[in-house]
Amino acid sequence: MPSDPERDALLAGLRAPRAWIAPKFFYDSLGSTLFDAITELDEYYPTRTERAILRAREREIAAAFGCEGCTLIDLGAGNGEKAAGLFGALRPRQYVAVDISVDYLRQSLEALQRRFPNVVMTGVGADLTRPLELPARIARERRLYFYPGSSIGNFTPDEAQRFLTGLRAQLDDTGALLIGIDLVKDAATLQAAYDDPLGVTAAFNLNVLRRANRIAGTDFVLADWRHVAFFDATHSRIEMHLEARRALRVSWPGGERRFAAGERIHTENSYKYRLDEFAALLGRAGLGLQASWTDERDWFAVLMARPATWNGASSAAAPDDAD
Ligand code: AVJ
Repeated sequence: MPSDPERDALLAGLRAPRAWIAPKFFYDSLGSTLFDAITELDEYYPTRTERAILRAREREIAAAFGCEGCTLIDLGAGNGEKAAGLFGALRPRQYVAVDISVDYLRQSLEALQRRFPNVVMTGVGADLTRPLELPARIARERRLYFYPGSSIGNFTPDEAQRFLTGLRAQLDDTGALLIGIDLVKDAATLQAAYDDPLGVTAAFNLNVLRRANRIAGTDFVLADWRHVAFFDATHSRIEMHLEARRALRVSWPGGERRFAAGERIHTENSYKYRLDEFAALLGRAGLGLQASWTDERDWFAVLMARPATWNGASSAAAPDDAD
């Protein structure tokens, strides 16, 4: 059988003593659509809270960075709606949409390009758990990386630091990072956001088994598995798992594994931060917090971060404070 890194990674996780599947496997076309449905749930507050912050603060955000003529690089663009909501205030010259789900990205960009004919648009299919390589024609100057939705929460803090260090290396002093962070809050609110009574998050989680069946030739029967989500206060993270409803066996070309009743496959972590913790993490990645905006309940934060070497002088919007 030809080697396929995606299949090998998936099967390595399934063979591990504590089985796991990486969350990037959620996002095929159906998975991306299910995620969009999650964002409409009453219980799933992050998307709408972030959207409200971005809307209310768009002028302050634009003033903080001065994006006019800049390149807006959207990491995990999905349907591109969040970034598009900022086009009016930020006036980027170029929009680079990066996403792991290439088909979904292509459809989204076509629609977006029709609505914003004056923004130069480029789609890049990329797995953000690997070093990001942008096409050479994308200027290094005046980049605004946009990493919304608390997607960074899928990384452990160490991985997040490495990821941010990598982004920092792609910025010069004319660049910045606009990032959304989900904040720590009461466990009941967190848990409800990841275990909704309509079962949309359950479907999103279970879809990863369909994905495994296609990518790795496993024979998962979805009805044998149950969605489990809980907040682990020690690690400050939501964990999502799929739990075997009975003792069963999963086979694939060249291997198999038994699962006891109640045994789980870990499918996602979603870390929740305090603002000061995240500012410290930015600092360890060579970035400094320039500004932050939150909602009135302090449930979510949008941060503008700059290379630590930035002195404010290179920003179009920097005030001329004498010192
Ligand atoms: C896309 C990673 C930000 O962690 O809240 C939503 C994914 N998982 N519901 C999140 C997700 C279950 C989401 N991120």
